[in-house]
Amino acid sequence: MTQLGIIGGTGLTRLTGLNDIREKRVETPFGEPSSPLIYGELEGREVVFLPRHGKAHSLPPHKVNYRANIHALHQAGVSHVVAIVAVGGIGDDMRPGVIAIPDQIIDYTWGRKQTFFEDDAGPVTHIDFTHPYCEALRNNLLEVARKRGIQACDGGVYGATQGPRLETAAEIRRMKRDGCTLVGMTAMPEAALARELGLCYANCALVVNLAAGLGKGEITMEDIQATMADGMEEIRKILSGWAGAV
Ligand code: HPA
Repeated sequence: MTQLGIIGGTGLTRLTGLNDIREKRVETPFGEPSSPLIYGELEGREVVFLPRHGKAHSLPPHKVNYRANIHALHQAGVSHVVAIVAVGGIGDDMRPGVIAIPDQIIDYTWGRKQTFFEDDAGPVTHIDFTHPYCEALRNNLLEVARKRGIQACDGGVYGATQGPRLETAAEIRRMKRDGCTLVGMTAMPEAALARELGLCYANCALVVNLAAGLGKGEITMEDIQATMADGMEEIRKILSGWAGAV
């Protein structure tokens, strides 16, 4: 059975439109997730919502317990996860306000717990990660966006950086040479952990600023927040459409 999960990112710590909300505290073998799981109904479908940075947005990207989050959703029987991410735009068409459904990832993070398979007693396991996102879910999201009249960019290479600081201009130039079109701090190891547990996982990315050195002057939180407020409304519509359609 398809059981829907949504991981909320910066700008989406609460999911409006979610009815009959109940919370469930869960423990996992990897510790506690960022928040209790929030169960609710969206367009008549049960969804399990988890704010990645905690309900009060108090966990920075490098402190999120990604293993506990993904394990908690798996324990709850979730099979499909849409994870919302705020990103900087690197590609020429990735301007603030653009929504993208990325199709590739380059991982620049370090020091994060990035696998469930590190128990010496178990067999060595290498998951296939050629296509890091679930293609069927990506297509669902693009289709829902199209039907709702929301422009969403099909594809993008998400470069995952460690944070919490933003990048230098030279780092972004290097990422651009590498082929990254988006930059964010949270898709890894989240996407890989989801794959390890067999979850169908996709990102819905909102570009909230031009990446370092690509715009004029400094990147300010005020500018980011202004873009975020409008963009997250569109993302909420995509999420409702998704819940109503699958
Ligand atoms: N860099 C990294 N992460 C981000 C950015 C950025 O420019 N904007 C939003 N999340």
